[in-house]
Amino acid sequence: MCGIVAYIGKNEAYPILINGLKRLEYRGYDSAGVAILNEKNELNVYKTKGKVSDLEEFAAGKDISGHIGIAHTRWATHGEPNDINAHPHISRSGKLALIHNGIIENYLTVKKELEHRKYQFLSSTDTEVLVNLIEEVQRKQKVDLFEATRIALNHVNGAYAIAILDKDNPDTIIAARKGSPMVIGIGEDEFFIASDATPIVGLTSKVVYIDDEEVVKIQRGKDLILKTIDDIEMTPYVQELKMNLESIEKGGFDHFMLKEIYEQPTTVRDTMRGRLHPRRGTITLGGIFDYEQKLLNARNIIIVACGTSWHAALVGSYLIELYAGIRVKVEYASEFRYRTPVIFPDDVVIAISQSGETADTLAAIQLAKAKGATVLGICNVIGSSISRATDAGIYTHAGPEIGVASTKAFTAQVAVLTMLAIRLAELNGFIPKSEVAKLIHELDLIPEKIKTTLERSAIVKDIAEQMKDCHNAIYLGRLQNFPVALEGALKLKEISYIHAEGYPAAEMKHGPIALIDKDMPVIFIATNKSTYEKVVSNVQEVKARHGKIISVVTEGDVLVKEMSDYVIEIPDTVCTYAPLLATIPLQLLAYYIAVKRGCNVDQPRNLAKSVTVE
Ligand code: AGP
Repeated sequence: MCGIVAYIGKNEAYPILINGLKRLEYRGYDSAGVAILNEKNELNVYKTKGKVSDLEEFAAGKDISGHIGIAHTRWATHGEPNDINAHPHISRSGKLALIHNGIIENYLTVKKELEHRKYQFLSSTDTEVLVNLIEEVQRKQKVDLFEATRIALNHVNGAYAIAILDKDNPDTIIAARKGSPMVIGIGEDEFFIASDATPIVGLTSKVVYIDDEEVVKIQRGKDLILKTIDDIEMTPYVQELKMNLESIEKGGFDHFMLKEIYEQPTTVRDTMRGRLHPRRGTITLGGIFDYEQKLLNARNIIIVACGTSWHAALVGSYLIELYAGIRVKVEYASEFRYRTPVIFPDDVVIAISQSGETADTLAAIQLAKAKGATVLGICNVIGSSISRATDAGIYTHAGPEIGVASTKAFTAQVAVLTMLAIRLAELNGFIPKSEVAKLIHELDLIPEKIKTTLERSAIVKDIAEQMKDCHNAIYLGRLQNFPVALEGALKLKEISYIHAEGYPAAEMKHGPIALIDKDMPVIFIATNKSTYEKVVSNVQEVKARHGKIISVVTEGDVLVKEMSDYVIEIPDTVCTYAPLLATIPLQLLAYYIAVKRGCNVDQPRNLAKSVTVE
């Protein structure tokens, strides 16, 4: 999730650009850059790996003058975080400078076409391909930057929010968006462009939110010209900006955690973007393409992770064994690294980590590599230590997760593992092709079903009111809902400080049932079709002992619903996809209980976002 800022107007651009980038810091990033046209029409570009402060240090003492510029903080999606891959990217002629937030899915195809026309690329980014595509259109069709940008955007698939400037047109900036946010601020003889309103607050209150597949021409002293990429003129709708800075960074939510919970329809879609192909009935996981055979022939797939990532690993293990028939072992990385595990050279180890910096997981990787295993990664942070330590991997593309309690990273990890399980099934034929097609089709519907789940979660606040003074809670689930029980319990523990346990539902009678009384809330994840009757019995056992029963059920459920004190209904789906939906109300339940208890939701006590020490 990169940040873009652009300025054209009566004031010096540089300070406005830098302050704008600093206001976007909450989006998370790994490199930053700026391009400014000075009065002599020289295009000065400064970019560096690191923070905005590193960029300021790098640009200190250099020519940063000029009234038009673009600036960018990069959350790497293609290519390592380094100086070369940082934005802005410059076209072959050196005339065009472009910044971009998003993912161009077909950039490799476009890159090959441009290479045939003797274009050479310095970086491994999709953005550098886009700026040269625009230049090639401008050159070949002899059109201005506005038209060249519009035409070029008809040739790319994916998501973008871009701003581009041209040395030969120093009074103009062209901007466009599709699937990534963008807002334009209109001041007195000046314009601002940004990923969201954060950099604009306090500079102007007149804004235009352009829509997907719209391109805008911004010229000093002139009105905006807005059109669709299909060349249809649009009238800009100018609105009054009514936001304060603090609320904007959270997108209007009270906490980053709540914002990230509500981002999940989008982030799960982003995780699957360019990988899930329902029309073709196939899945492409480019990052591990060369390792598919190793996975298919693995004696064991061993997944190492910690915390929430370990819960996602457990979900993945059920799916891979069920759909691909390959044995999977899930290990706590912290135990694995000291347990002297038996690892065979034909084992494949998968390390899962949101931050990509968890010390125990990193150590587990080193151990596995030392024993000759192939090691793959599933990370959310491009270029992180774990992503660099593994032989190959799959990025989750969930965007920066600011809240310490992991939410959108979990569903993104489960989505990746689900695609992996189906891909392996597609390759080894362990299940019929017709079932593979059905699974792919249903997975494509999940982002919308997550949205529906969120819309139906109003009752969660009432449940939170009932639970906020509890001292304990038990979460119970079977099969792939057992890790959901673990995850729901972890969420409650880590942000509300209420003690909670997750258990396999059948395990309850082997001890925990002694805990059940009228003061013990028991949360059942009762969506399974295959073990539903068993879960009904478990609910009855709790009810007979006056436990307070809260159930997450599939819409239309009758039996469990009748026996429960509170019920949260989620949309029907393939039973193995339940974790992608059932986890959502449990995230919200923990959130609302923590808020009601006055806890610091985004930075809970004693916790760090990334446990980089043992
Ligand atoms: C999850 O809510 C916690 N913040 C924690 O358990 C986390 O999942 C764990 O530390 C692993 O972090 P990683 O995914 O960045 O490796």
